[in-house]
Amino acid sequence: MQPLLLLLLLSVLPFVFLLSQSQLLLPITNNQTQTYIIHLKDPAAAHPLDLHSTADLKIWHASFLPNATLSSGEPRLLYSYRHAITGFAASLTPQEAKSMESIQDFILACPDRRLFLHTTYTPRFLNLDEWTSAGGSVWEKSFYGEGAVIGVVDTGISPNHPSFSDDGIPFPPIKWKGRCSLTGCNNKVIGAKAFRAGDRNVSPLDLDGHGTHVAGIAAGNFVRFAGGTASGMAPKAHLAVYKACFGGECRDSDVLAAVDQAIDDRVSVLLIPLGGMPLPLYQDSVAVASFAAVGKGIVVCASAGNGGPRKSEISHEAPWVVTAGASSADRRVIATVRLGNGVDLVGESGFQPPKEDFPTSFRPLAFPGIDGDPAAANCHNRSLADLDLRGKIVLCFAGDAENTDKFHAATNAGAAAVILMNRRRHGFTTRSDSHDLPASHLSYMDGRLLRSYIYSSSSAVAALIFNGTVYGARPSPAIAAFSSRGPSLMNGGLLKPDIIAPGVNVLSAWPSSAVSAPLFKFMSGTSMAAAHVAGVAALIRKKHPRWSPAMIHSALVTSASNLDLDGNQLFDELSYNNSGSLLAAGAGQLHPAGAMNPGLVYDIERKHFLHYLCGLGYSSTELPYRRLFLMTQVRVIAKQMVSCDKSMGAEELNYPSISVRFGSSPEKAVVRTAKSVRKRSTVYWARIEEPKGVRMDLSRYELSFSRANQEESFEIKFRIQGPRPGRGHVSQGRLSWVSRTRVVSSPILIIF
Ligand SMILES: *[C@@H]1O[C@H](CO)[C@@H](O)[C@H](O)[C@H]1NC(C)=O
Ligand SMILES: *[C@@H]1O[C@H](CO)[C@@H](O)[C@H](O)[C@H]1NC(C)=O
Ligand SMILES: *[C@@H]1O[C@H](CO)[C@@H](O)[C@H](O)[C@H]1NC(C)=O
Ligand SMILES: *[C@@H]1O[C@H](CO)[C@@H](O)[C@H](O)[C@H]1NC(C)=O
Ligand SMILES: *[C@@H]1O[C@H](CO)[C@@H](O)[C@H](O)[C@H]1NC(C)=O
Repeated sequence: MQPLLLLLLLSVLPFVFLLSQSQLLLPITNNQTQTYIIHLKDPAAAHPLDLHSTADLKIWHASFLPNATLSSGEPRLLYSYRHAITGFAASLTPQEAKSMESIQDFILACPDRRLFLHTTYTPRFLNLDEWTSAGGSVWEKSFYGEGAVIGVVDTGISPNHPSFSDDGIPFPPIKWKGRCSLTGCNNKVIGAKAFRAGDRNVSPLDLDGHGTHVAGIAAGNFVRFAGGTASGMAPKAHLAVYKACFGGECRDSDVLAAVDQAIDDRVSVLLIPLGGMPLPLYQDSVAVASFAAVGKGIVVCASAGNGGPRKSEISHEAPWVVTAGASSADRRVIATVRLGNGVDLVGESGFQPPKEDFPTSFRPLAFPGIDGDPAAANCHNRSLADLDLRGKIVLCFAGDAENTDKFHAATNAGAAAVILMNRRRHGFTTRSDSHDLPASHLSYMDGRLLRSYIYSSSSAVAALIFNGTVYGARPSPAIAAFSSRGPSLMNGGLLKPDIIAPGVNVLSAWPSSAVSAPLFKFMSGTSMAAAHVAGVAALIRKKHPRWSPAMIHSALVTSASNLDLDGNQLFDELSYNNSGSLLAAGAGQLHPAGAMNPGLVYDIERKHFLHYLCGLGYSSTELPYRRLFLMTQVRVIAKQMVSCDKSMGAEELNYPSISVRFGSSPEKAVVRTAKSVRKRSTVYWARIEEPKGVRMDLSRYELSFSRANQEESFEIKFRIQGPRPGRGHVSQGRLSWVSRTRVVSSPILIIF
């Protein structure tokens, strides 16, 4: 780099630093230390220290710090990262972090962020002995993911659970470098480590349950129990556990250390079922670390978050991460509310008391919130204290507080049962929680019907009927109301989530110490969805060991189904219709059998990701600063100097879905390159579903391949047809390449 440029770069850095400072939610006094993640320039090849040696790396990192320890005696340096980023995590005051800007190899200091597990609620066990792994067992029977290693960054694991027995599981692969610091590891759980502020003595044992649950979904072994067989998506895959979350909360610096270790250990797939609010990619530590992981051939699967119904509150927008939203399956655990007027409302409850304990008889209904008091409508404990609810069925809105507290309050007030009603924003998504009282959880629509019945009757009564577990609920699969929705703001408009997978009332392994305690529990959230995707990614990785992560990503996306079991467009449990499914469902429902054998893939090389990053233009700063900004930001992600001589718009990235923003122009063209992954000659024909108001023309309507790895490019022209809709209006379509045996579909998102 020229001296002038370097000077400019340094003069820009303080602003970059301030930018990240503004992420802080809490004001901090100047002498309070906190954790910072420090990004450094990749050291010159001729560095005086041997930076491949862990000891020398630590010495280099420590040289940036004012001294080795805080006044409390605790070490400042928490982590020296080797793969995930070029840099380290340390305890510093804001002032100390700021004064680092003058050190030559410094790029950026990011305050440690809190990340959260993507589970919607704390579940309670449901004593059901039914189990279906959503999606069917075709691929499980034919293909078990043997030899693949799924790394799980979460709350740890309970290794003694039968789901993690190594019955029939071979030894770890030869490439495996990881270690296990937990008694109970075996050929299933081949690695376990914990990361908490650099403390080496933390146990990776799961005290929460979330990590055990998602590990069970991704790679649980077969467990036979009364009435069924439980298994994960890749029952013969190995698990490597990286505990980075404690008490439901995770820290950026710990998650980075976990990913760093997973890269070093050589996992095949990485599951990251947690996240935070959207951030520019270079400030999003999971995005930065994942880029390093993907560069090593690791497929990274992450959860989109439970930000629904809010728009654009979505985690993991980077195009090198497979981002999963949540869908509901066709299983319901039914608790019917029969109203005095004869109408049946079908709700859910995991607690299904026998008739002897809770006879099916009409009881008076009480709605504490009938006068509009929000606390009473939510059944907050204090607002029920003065009411006499003895023998009555109490109506409460779901959410806003732990539902457990509402049940507690209702019990204290003498209620016989509780009906939870969704608000509009909770839509149709109901839970099969197991409560302490007889209960039913109703959708927003049914809750409205119930309330209008109460308003219209002076002596409203209802009976609860517990119908047990029922399969075949419709519409199914449907998009969960809580699943995070696009449009993405941080990635240049690429479509996220990529796909949806089962994430509502998913039954999986649960840690328990008591002998009689239940082995499986229901949980909901995009965490569970991402775990399904990670398991399937491991199956594909096993079947196609040489595929790049982008090829596996493409296989997952282009095989997903945008239709439900009845052949209708996917239903959104939030909007009550299927008109907005693309921004919530991406390409659609995970379809493992299709993803195994896609026929064609859209591959992306590392250099194309770099061109994409250069084209992103994170900051609105004017030239020439803008160029420097990009070089700094891209450098943080790429861990190398990038000149940004070449750049491309996000829509030009060879992504398996297609997003186009018209802006002021009436026409846009994008190019895609398809790669054949079949040996045999195959011809594909284009099948087009034009987005409303847009005309699509292809440069070729037929692609013919005669060998594996042959690539064919085509251009798609989009033209606005008819009156131009308002700015920001969204329209959606689909392009499918269809052969006699394959359908390779890309969803198309148009933003006017
Ligand atoms: C530094 O910390 C002490 C308490 O540890 C506090 O009383 C003092 O006000 C702080 N000083 C500044 C400048 O924030
Ligand atoms: C390091 O610096 C901090 C703050 O300046 C101070 O409190 C601490 O005592 C120093 N540690 C040593 C070993 O000098
Ligand atoms: C009411 O619920 C809150 C939590 O929502 C809890 O902290 C509090 O102890 C409860 N109060 C009573 C009287 O149960
Ligand atoms: C639930 O059971 C009751 C009583 O057997 C029956 O009338 C009702 O149709 C059932 N509802 C559902 C949804 O299965
Ligand atoms: C679907 O629901 C959304 C939100 O409720 C609404 O804005 C939209 O008009 C609906 N679309 C159709 C086709 O009903």
